[in-house]
Amino acid sequence: MRQIRICLGSSCYSRGNNVHLEVIRKYIAENHLDAEITFSGHLCEELCSEGPVLRIDDKIYKGVTFSGLFRILEEEFSNKH
Ligand code: FES
Repeated sequence: MRQIRICLGSSCYSRGNNVHLEVIRKYIAENHLDAEITFSGHLCEELCSEGPVLRIDDKIYKGVTFSGLFRILEEEFSNKH
């Protein structure tokens, strides 16, 4: 089971993760990945200055942008289609 964890601390949330949250939800649904990915939120972990922060398995993505997010998801999960 793969794991996506998104930071929902106030800094990351207001700087993009509020939107990224929905983008990821939609990506999982549209690609029927619900059974393969656990998606959850976590609280601030002191990386605010490098946020918005997203974790996929053991990897931390920092400074995630709306345009970069889709590329990250494709790189991580496109082989799962
Ligand atoms: S709010 Fe995300 S690391 Fe602080």
